[in-house]
Amino acid sequence: MRVYIKTYGCQMNQYDSDVVSFLLKKEGWEIVGEWEKAEVILVNTCCVREHAENRALSRIGVWGKYKRSKNPSLLLGVMGCMAQKEGKALLERFPFLDLVVGTYRIWDIPELLKEAKNKKILAVDSTYQKFPLPDIGEGKVSAFISIMRGCNNFCSYCIVPYVRGRERSRPPEDILDEVKCLVKRGVKEVTLLGQNVNSYRGISKKKGNTYDLPDLLKELNKVEGLYRIKFTTSHPKDITEKLIYAVRDYQKVCEYIHLPVQSGSNRILSLMRRGYTREKYLSLVKKIREEIPEVSITTDIIVGFPKETQEDFSMTKELMEEVRFDTAYIFKYSPRPYTSAAKLPDDVSKEEKEERLNELLTLQKKISEEKAESLVGKVMEVLIERKEKGKWLSKTRTHRTVLVESGDNLMGRLLQVKICRNHKGILEGIPVE
Ligand code: 5AD
Ligand code: SF4
Repeated sequence: MRVYIKTYGCQMNQYDSDVVSFLLKKEGWEIVGEWEKAEVILVNTCCVREHAENRALSRIGVWGKYKRSKNPSLLLGVMGCMAQKEGKALLERFPFLDLVVGTYRIWDIPELLKEAKNKKILAVDSTYQKFPLPDIGEGKVSAFISIMRGCNNFCSYCIVPYVRGRERSRPPEDILDEVKCLVKRGVKEVTLLGQNVNSYRGISKKKGNTYDLPDLLKELNKVEGLYRIKFTTSHPKDITEKLIYAVRDYQKVCEYIHLPVQSGSNRILSLMRRGYTREKYLSLVKKIREEIPEVSITTDIIVGFPKETQEDFSMTKELMEEVRFDTAYIFKYSPRPYTSAAKLPDDVSKEEKEERLNELLTLQKKISEEKAESLVGKVMEVLIERKEKGKWLSKTRTHRTVLVESGDNLMGRLLQVKICRNHKGILEGIPVE
């Protein structure tokens, strides 16, 4: 039996799709890259913005039509955040769906698929708990690993706490075992995932004591054969000095921090319930850069949050000019059900949101390109991830992409390269001795 998995959304969703692929393969399923060849199609969905939902919904519609007209025995399933949020409503809206599996039940998909041959499956209960220990990541150089799930922050715009529940951290031993398994399979770099990795609190199975993120990094730093450790996402209100020192001092931990600021206006930050001010964010960035001069800092920004005036927006723009992020992911505010911001009037017009988005995109593009340009001539450490269009695609410790030209097989290699060219923010380099 062949299954095709389409993934929308964040890295956590990608990881979840990897988990499901792994579990299915263990049961003898084949994972295929073309949906036309599959007997089962699973759509792993995101609901963080309406746009993400709409994309998944239209895909589901297309596959529903295909099922009805060309392939009635196809099993079509929806999993992930939108499945958790919509539940039964999805089965009602799309009678051709065979299963809807929420974020708490993904580990049961192999079992549920067997049942789905005879009846419709709805698995969206949120009390169910399971933590996987799969040795996924076959054939990869860089792999994700979830260290915690859920979020307790309830930022006023965010639906994540409602569809992924409260924070649960995995025991450090499970994470270490999974990382060691990955390394045995050839993985050289792991990215630790969580909605808010700074509040990781894993209880040791052996000793019963609690590990925070820096403690976990210290253990992972000792894993032989592992070259690099990255982590995401960090919440500015929870970054400690201890964490900054861990990034500075543990050799394998990379100089890369994704630190979503969301807005540069204190009024908006407070309406967002982010728990920090513009000043606090700026002093945090300063501290990080003092301790880790080579660090790259990236961010997320929302424009057009309710009540965001031109003045609030200008403060965000000024903050971006001041910080000069390496990359910024910029989003238009999208009201989400259950969230407290959804009760506020969505009063920034569509056109205004679009304009603010474009203004920040243009600004960031300029900054990113200037930063890329300043790296030309430098020698940097890269890890080769794969071959793409005849060139080796690699990442720096600071998470920049570098294309490397070489006739040798460099797969999985850690190399020093000299950056010789910047092409629209994409760096090109050649290996040096
Ligand atoms: N509207 C727009 N952007 C959002 N994000 C989260 N919720 C919303 C929303 N309702 C953004 C935030 C977050 C990123 C993952 O998605 O910037 O950091
Ligand atoms: Fe959402 Fe805020 Fe939690 Fe991030 S920290 S997942 S933005 S509630």
